[in-house]
Amino acid sequence: MNHFLDIHKTDAAELRGIIDQASAMKQARLGRPKGALDDDQPLAGRMVALIFEKPSTRTRVSFDVGVRQMGGQTMVLSGNDMQLGHGETIADTARVLSRYVDLIMIRTFDESVLLEMADYADVPVINGLTDRTHPCQIMADILTYEEHRGPIKGKKVVWTGDGNNVCASFLHAAGQFGFDVTFTGPQQLDPEEEFVNLARKAGATVTIERDPVKAVEGADLVVADTWVSMHDSQSSKERRHNMLRPYQVNDALMAHAKPDALFMHCLPAHREEEVTSAVMDGPQSVIFDEAENRLHAQKAVMRWCLGV
Ligand code: CP
Ligand code: NVA
Repeated sequence: MNHFLDIHKTDAAELRGIIDQASAMKQARLGRPKGALDDDQPLAGRMVALIFEKPSTRTRVSFDVGVRQMGGQTMVLSGNDMQLGHGETIADTARVLSRYVDLIMIRTFDESVLLEMADYADVPVINGLTDRTHPCQIMADILTYEEHRGPIKGKKVVWTGDGNNVCASFLHAAGQFGFDVTFTGPQQLDPEEEFVNLARKAGATVTIERDPVKAVEGADLVVADTWVSMHDSQSSKERRHNMLRPYQVNDALMAHAKPDALFMHCLPAHREEEVTSAVMDGPQSVIFDEAENRLHAQKAVMRWCLGV
């Protein structure tokens, strides 16, 4: 049984296998209606619980559609409507759900909820985002980068803004897929030192550069994310915006990256805040391919979890 909890917790060769399978499965259904079943229906007879303690558009829809395309069934559950963590322990919920479903995907706040779920579930658990990491997003991002530009190994990825959960999973992936990360943002919002050290230990070059123009020099990929994540308090919004404004990704900044650099954003994006519409809708942006690839990447993740 394989949990998919974080990119650094999964073997590099297995991660590569997941990306390759995602790509092959995507090719196999090109041009087919979204609701058409995959020929082999690898999840036939499987029931998947999708638990959300935070809002979601992409994760919710892509997991749901992905399971159905593979012939399985889903139930989408809101954390608020469950006993999760208030009516009973996470461990007990995990044990109970394991009697009904074959796979659990959970989006939650505190990482400890995900880890306790995985510890006590008898079925695989997938991390659909916590306050600390977002591994499914980065699997889709790697698939997207490689579709457009070939192997990500050896490339320079520049993360702009808040060193948040999505940034953390890029750092985890840097070690596993062999690319380098430059973080540019205010010191107060640096990525966790533990994750920076982990990437460095795994052989990736991680650079912290306060000057965004210097940071994007030679970039193959520039990435932005919201300045206020779902776990951040709304009262911090003005302070964060003031700190992060110099790190907006706009045409002037993109001009310092390599001419063929791509722009990515996990979405939802705040137009004219962390990124301008000119960049989001411009020729270097692959944001909607990223969103689509959530579907293909997660289908391969689910197959890997279930060994099917
Ligand atoms: N990128 C992402 O995870 O989007 P949602 O919050 O809409 O799921
Ligand atoms: N950093 C963002 C990502 C959303 C997909 C958040 O956690 O809200």
